[in-house]
Amino acid sequence: MILSEPTTTMKDADAILTLEIDGEIKQTRKGTRLLSALLANHAKLLKACGGQGRCATCHVFINKGMENLTPPTDQELMTLSIMKITQENARLSCQCMILGSGISVTVPKGKYVGTEAELEALIGQRAEQALFHPITGEVLVDAGKLILRSALQKLQTVNQEFDTAMRSLVTRKFMKEK
Ligand code: FES
Repeated sequence: MILSEPTTTMKDADAILTLEIDGEIKQTRKGTRLLSALLANHAKLLKACGGQGRCATCHVFINKGMENLTPPTDQELMTLSIMKITQENARLSCQCMILGSGISVTVPKGKYVGTEAELEALIGQRAEQALFHPITGEVLVDAGKLILRSALQKLQTVNQEFDTAMRSLVTRKFMKEK
């Protein structure tokens, strides 16, 4: 679900807030989408679904200040439930707006692999940084580890599991609406 930016009053628009990203204090404005604030500060997030809450490549961890974000959308809760990101402080940054100062965010450290071919081309090399699945954000290879064919198999398995989970979700939704 793409969230529309909330209507801001003149007072809101003037509200400069602070946001901590990986330990650095940055400024933002009330009503800013968290993803926009992170990208404006060069956070490396893939946003594979274009901000619709249907992947997990914009997920971050909220260390404090969760109450200063809008609550999770239904789409966000559904997506997080089928991804294997189980930390309670995980949020899809495209699905929340900043309401106040004092939010501290950790961006997962690593690189999102674009395609199977991209990962296959890296086999035999050592991962300079962790490699993440391009939809679920799962760690495929830890930083410093050799990239093996098993990482490619893991990516394919995660793809299959993801497709199965999505199909079952769509079927359940369809049955409910009938
Ligand atoms: S960009 Fe896909 S869920 Fe946020």
